[in-house]
Amino acid sequence: MTKRHILVTSALPNANGPIHLGHLFEHIQTDIWVRYQRMQGHECIYVCADDTHGTATMLEAEKKGIVAEAYIAEIKASHEQDFSEFSISYDNYYSTHSSENEAYCTEIFHALEEAGQIKEKAVEQLFDPEKNLFLADRFIVGRCPKCNTEDQYGDNCEACGATYAATDLIDPKSKISGATPVLKSSTHIFFTLSNFTDYLKEWTRSGTLQDQVANKLAEWLDVGLTDWDISRDAPYFGIEIPGYPEKYFYVWMDAPIGYIASFKNWCDRTNTALVNDYWSQDSNYEVHHFIGKDIINFHALFWPAILKCAGYRTPTRIHTHGFVNLKGQKMSKSRNTVVNANTFAKHLNPEFLRYYYATKLSNSIDDNDINMEDLVQKVNSDLVGKVVNIASRCAGFIKKQFQGKLASAAGTELIAEFIDKKPILEAHYEAGDFSKAVREIMAMADKANQYIAENEPWAKIKIPGNEADVHQVCSDGINMFKIIIGYLKPIVPNLAKKSEAFLNIEAMDWQSIDSPLFDHEINKFKALLIRADGKDVDSMLAEAAGPDVETEAKVSGKKSKAANDRTSEKADDKLGEIEFDDFAKVDLRVVTIINAEEVEGADKLLRLTLDLGDETRNVFAGIKSAYTPAQLIGKQTVMVANLKPRKMKFGLSEGMVLAAGPGGRDLFILEPHKGAKAGMKVT
Ligand code: 2FM
Ligand code: ZN
Repeated sequence: MTKRHILVTSALPNANGPIHLGHLFEHIQTDIWVRYQRMQGHECIYVCADDTHGTATMLEAEKKGIVAEAYIAEIKASHEQDFSEFSISYDNYYSTHSSENEAYCTEIFHALEEAGQIKEKAVEQLFDPEKNLFLADRFIVGRCPKCNTEDQYGDNCEACGATYAATDLIDPKSKISGATPVLKSSTHIFFTLSNFTDYLKEWTRSGTLQDQVANKLAEWLDVGLTDWDISRDAPYFGIEIPGYPEKYFYVWMDAPIGYIASFKNWCDRTNTALVNDYWSQDSNYEVHHFIGKDIINFHALFWPAILKCAGYRTPTRIHTHGFVNLKGQKMSKSRNTVVNANTFAKHLNPEFLRYYYATKLSNSIDDNDINMEDLVQKVNSDLVGKVVNIASRCAGFIKKQFQGKLASAAGTELIAEFIDKKPILEAHYEAGDFSKAVREIMAMADKANQYIAENEPWAKIKIPGNEADVHQVCSDGINMFKIIIGYLKPIVPNLAKKSEAFLNIEAMDWQSIDSPLFDHEINKFKALLIRADGKDVDSMLAEAAGPDVETEAKVSGKKSKAANDRTSEKADDKLGEIEFDDFAKVDLRVVTIINAEEVEGADKLLRLTLDLGDETRNVFAGIKSAYTPAQLIGKQTVMVANLKPRKMKFGLSEGMVLAAGPGGRDLFILEPHKGAKAGMKVT
C-alpha cells in the first residue's frame, strides 16, 4: 500500500468559553479518523488552534480587566486540558493570534492584491459614539420595525421572525455602552468573490464535499456570489491589513489561514520542512477539514476561492457533520442545555463519550439526538457486556489451568471470518461511517460470546479429560477479543491500551490486528472497563444544569438526597418491614461462577468471576472460610446485580453473592434449582 500524507484539521474553537459536548462531537470524530489513518501507517498530522480574534474577545478581556492576550491564553490552556481528557491526539494546538498567522495573512493578502481581486468600497454602518467603534449586528438592540417587540437584535426579530437591516430597528441602542448608535461611513476592503462563482460551481462538485453539502451550496451559487468584506475597523483584536493602517482582517478571513499557521508552527517545532509539500498548488498530499454544517460557506466557498486565487492548493475533502441535540433540544447556553467537557469528565469516563459518539457518527449532515441514558445503555451492553466480557470469560481459565499460555492453533473459523471483515471496516472508517463500523464489530462480539456460551468452558472444566477443549475455546475467545479490540482501537484508545497490556502484545497497528496469538503467554486479567453508572449521569447533568434548574435526576423520577432521607425515616418507623417497592428495587440474578481465586493479602475473601449470561462481573465474597476456589467454579448461585460497585483494597467489587448460615465453615451459597440459566431474574 502506498503511504499517504494527510494533514487534518478540526474547526478552530472560539476563544470565548469552555469546550462542550458539541465541540467534542467534531473533535472526537476527527480524532477517530486520524487514529485510524495513523494505524494504517500513513503520515497523518492533526492540527488545531483557538480562534481568537474579533470584537467580542476585546470586549470580554476589557470586562475582566485584562489584556486580550492574557484572556486568550487562559482559555487556550483550558481548551487544551479539556481535549486531552478526551484523548484528542493533536500534533499541534495553536492560536490564530500568532506571528505565523500574521505572516501567512500578509502573504496571502498580497497575492490577492496582485491577482487584482482586492477592492475598496465605502460602507455605512452603525457606530457607537461613546465606545468609538463600529457595531456588528449582534451588538445592537432595539424594537422590531414589523411587530414592535422590544429588545430585538440587529438583523432579525425572535418574536415575529422578520429580517431587516440593523438601521431599520426602532430606537436602537448599543449593547456595549447603551448609547444611541449613529450611521457612519468607512472604507472597507473586499475580496471579489463574485469572480469565483463559476470556479466554485465546479469545485463544489469535484468530489470534495458530501452531496448534501454541495446541494446546499448550489442554492447560493445559483443566485451568484457577492464580494466579501474582509476588513474591520479599529479598535479590533486581530491582524492588521498590510498597507491599510487601522484596518484589520475580519476574523473569518484569518481563522482558516490559522490552519496553515498552526501546521507551520508544528513544522518549525519538529524541524520538518513540509509546508510546501502540503500547501503548494501542485501538491498531491492531502488536506482534510472537519467542520459543522453551520460554517460550510466559509470553508467550501470563501476558503477555496482565496486559496485558489493566492496560488495555494485547495482541500482534498471537507467532512461536514450535523448538530448534536441533547434530548431533542439544541444545546444552548441560555437554556442551560450545554454540558461542558470538564463536567462530563468529572463524573464519567471520557471514553464512554468517544464510544457513544462513534455509534452516532456517519457521513451525513443530519442532526444527531443524544441522550445520556442511551449512552449508559450502549457502553454497558456493548463495551462491558459484549467486548470486555469475552476476555473476562476466558482469561481465568487460561491463567489458572494453562499457565497463561494460549493454544497453538485456531479452533474456530470465526477468527478467519473476523479478519475477512477488514476491508468493510476500512471502507467505513475511511468514509467516516463509524456507526456502521461499530455495528459490524459488535456483531463479531456477539458471535464470539455465543461461541463461548455454547462451549461452556466453566462446565467442561469440571469433567476430567476436557482440558484441551477448554484450552482451545478460551484461546479462541482471547484471539477473537484481540481482533475486536484492534478494530475498536481508533474509537477507544485507552481500552485498547489496557487490553494490549493484558494480552501482553505490542501496540497494535492495522496490519497486526490479524496476527494470531498462538503459544503466547497472556497477563493476568484485571478489570478493563468499569460500567457506566446512571447515578453519575444524574449528578453530571445536575451539575451542568446549575443550581436553579430542574435537573434530569428530578425529571427522571430519581429522588433527591433529602427525599431519600425522608423515605428511610419512614421505613424506620416499622423496623424490619419494607414496602414491596423496596424489595423490587433489588435486582437478583442467577449467575454461573466461571472463576474463583484467592486474593493475596485477604483472609476471608475470594475473587469470583460471575457470568450473567450477557456479561461478567468481578465480585469479592467473604466465603473463603467455607469454600475452596475449585469447589465453586462451575456452580450456579444468586447475586445482587444492581448493588453499587464498591472500590475495595483489592479491586472493584461489582455486586454481591448471597449466602446463608452463621459463618465460618457453616456458610452456604444459595444455589438455584436445576434448569435455571445464568442471567435469569430472581423474582
Ligand atoms: O464556528 C466557529 O466556532 C469558528 N471559530 C470556526 C473557525 S474554523 C476555521 F475557519 F478556522
Ligand atoms: Zn418582530
